[in-house]
Amino acid sequence: MIEVPVLVPPSEWPALGKFIFQSNRTADGRVRCLHGDQGDDERSHVAELAGLPAGEAAFWRAADLCGETLGVIGCEIERSQRRAWIRGPWAVPGPSSASLEAALLNTLERALPEIKRLDAFPSEDDETLVALYRGAGYRRMEVHRVMQAALGDARTATADARIRPARMDDLQHWLPLHHGLFPGSYLSDDDIAAAIRDGPRLVLSAWFDGRPVGYVVAKDDATMDELYVDYLGVDPRARGRGLGRALLLHAIHWGEGRGRRRAALTVRQDRAEALSLYLQCGFKQARAGVHWCKEWTDVAASPPAAS
Ligand SMILES: CC(C)(COP(=O)(O)OP(=O)(O)OC[C@H]1O[C@@H](n2cnc3c(N)ncnc32)[C@H](O)[C@@H]1OP(=O)(O)O)[C@@H](O)C(=O)NCCC(=O)NCCS
Repeated sequence: MIEVPVLVPPSEWPALGKFIFQSNRTADGRVRCLHGDQGDDERSHVAELAGLPAGEAAFWRAADLCGETLGVIGCEIERSQRRAWIRGPWAVPGPSSASLEAALLNTLERALPEIKRLDAFPSEDDETLVALYRGAGYRRMEVHRVMQAALGDARTATADARIRPARMDDLQHWLPLHHGLFPGSYLSDDDIAAAIRDGPRLVLSAWFDGRPVGYVVAKDDATMDELYVDYLGVDPRARGRGLGRALLLHAIHWGEGRGRRRAALTVRQDRAEALSLYLQCGFKQARAGVHWCKEWTDVAASPPAAS
């Protein structure tokens, strides 16, 4: 018999790491949920869960009467945007695993009535999760490719006077471009401004014709031991002049300088120019996921809160 999923206190999140790591890999090593993937081993999953700020995530666990974990779902929450990014759900394989995964998803939706948009990234070929999200009314969006490159080879950036650390007054030049390129940006304008001001993310601007026309935002992820490129964009009027490549290589160089062993990023399948750039710079596809999204237009239309 399965107990109803219960909210897990933040102090117990690291203890979910083993279950999540094991449940998120298929027998042949493929990842089921891209958001749930936090590295190559159990240790990195535990460490990532231990480092998640308490107010920015939530996890639920379903157990049997002996307390054995049977299923987990979680999400990262951005309250200012009223958005959450789902991890999982995962259930122990068996005849009732699909219904438990559906129950976990339902629990999460009902527990977060203030959230207006939920995003999920199951692997492209995970038929169970894909069927779950489709059946729960999520809208299928684009395919995203997770790309990775080993660092530490000769692919370092050469000095380029056009690439500079971003300043606050650069934002007026390229934030409109950023909004146009990435309307669903998980980093808010305030997040990007804070990164310019305080770090720890790297924000660079690319200059052309006397003004900033491009940018890169990247994160030094110690838990994953990787440089993660959040966003890269160049104004269409300034493309084809090497700025995109220079921005990317400068971010990679920064990651190498901090001792990271790989670079990673996620790119939409239809962004042909970016894919070509990444392949040329040594990135290879690690996995692919389909973006599924569910939105409520106002709070009143959100799912009823759990009683
Ligand atoms: C991807 C992007 C940043 C490239 O900027 P850019 O300044 O034009 O790039 P570069 O001039 O440095 O070109 C570098 C490489 O990108 C690729 N590329 C650039 N323009 C291309 C085009 N029109 N068609 C195909 N590949 C293209 C090529 O591989 C090119 O190398 P090459 O010139 O040796 O063939 C830019 O096209 C852009 O902002 N795209 C929209 C946003 C985006 O997709 N960002 C990445 C999301 S993860």
